[in-house]
Amino acid sequence: MNPDLSLLHPYPFEKLAALFKGHQPPAGLAPIALSIGEPRHAAPAFVAETLTRHLGGLSTYPSTLGLPVLRDAIAAWLCRRFGLAAVDPASQVLPVNGTREALFSFTQAVVDRSRVTAAGKPLVLMPNPFYQIYEGAALLAGAEPHFLPCTAASGLQPDFDAVPDDVWARTQLLFICTPGNPTGALLGMDTLKKLIALSDRFGFVIASDECYSEIYFDEAQPPAGLLQACAELGRDDYRNCVVFHSLSKRSNLPGLRSGFVAGDAKLLSPYLRYRTYHGSAMPVQHQQVSAQVWQDEAHVRDNRALYREKFDRVFDILNPVLPLRKPDAGFYFWVATPGPDDAFARDLHRETAVTVLPGRYLARSGDDGVNPGEGHVRMALVAGVSECVEAAQRIRQFLAR
Ligand SMILES: Cc1ncc(COP(=O)(O)O)c(C=O)c1O
Repeated sequence: MNPDLSLLHPYPFEKLAALFKGHQPPAGLAPIALSIGEPRHAAPAFVAETLTRHLGGLSTYPSTLGLPVLRDAIAAWLCRRFGLAAVDPASQVLPVNGTREALFSFTQAVVDRSRVTAAGKPLVLMPNPFYQIYEGAALLAGAEPHFLPCTAASGLQPDFDAVPDDVWARTQLLFICTPGNPTGALLGMDTLKKLIALSDRFGFVIASDECYSEIYFDEAQPPAGLLQACAELGRDDYRNCVVFHSLSKRSNLPGLRSGFVAGDAKLLSPYLRYRTYHGSAMPVQHQQVSAQVWQDEAHVRDNRALYREKFDRVFDILNPVLPLRKPDAGFYFWVATPGPDDAFARDLHRETAVTVLPGRYLARSGDDGVNPGEGHVRMALVAGVSECVEAAQRIRQFLAR
């Protein structure tokens, strides 16, 4: 077997199952999972009908490049959402089966593992804590993951000014996540432009994971995106920049497995070849549905309203007992715990049947031995309003004991 497989960490949910082993919650309490990242709101009503109408697609092999109707819808959405002048649907957009597989496969296509220097393997930079796929993708691409701590002091996003030139010089790929998972923090336009300048200077690729970009609080202030920063700099070729977007969180369709990668055609062309061999074309009927979903914003606004209500209600219940900070965007509370995060999650689950994710499982210790996820838990407000409120009340009673 590939020896690099042994470098992969157990996934956070495996660690959570091990933490809970032998600790049963009270039998009468219904479990409430705030640990998962899976949206539980209803999908748009038109999806089932569109999917059924296009079931004939089951009898054809889909093309990896995707249908023009979908690529056109995606390009138009990008232009509307981020104020872009032009996105070429033929060369600057690729549909993917959810961004998870795309983040992984893009890394395999980008990293040049032959470029090992006296300083070591190529680096893939990523925030810490982080979406776990970045690390696994880097390891299996033959690169070394390099973690950029996201702490309260650095505004819950990496402090890019603290990265030394010799690290940038070894960097082939930089992952950014805005809004961040788990912190919900955004990268502002100035930072995005600074990263583009660094990419010009050192030649690395920027992969911006923006899959939470449509879940935000102020309708007048949607989060900025990397392609938007490129456009403001007059770079319509989006050189060395790609973004990842998904229908999973935006439209409550995690089971559709539908997202896209967009940006620099010089990167997407070889990536398309990689995907052709990898065998990851999106089923035709999913493409047809996705084209329609990207064209509809009404359900996305309703979705945001529901998250807004839940954040308000849960904040009011928990703020007196926990140091809560509403995120900039996304659907997670990233909460400092009284005491170790894993013990907090274990005891909370045992006493209240509410599950939260210990922050240490989402992060790695740096050279200083500090794990920036420690002392925090991630609470996802993905369940319905009444379930989230019930969970908050149980957490409050737990803390009062
Ligand atoms: C930060 C981040 N990126 C990407 C994904 C992958 O989402 P999907 O594959 O459903 O598009 C997730 C899923 O939870 C995530 O949290």
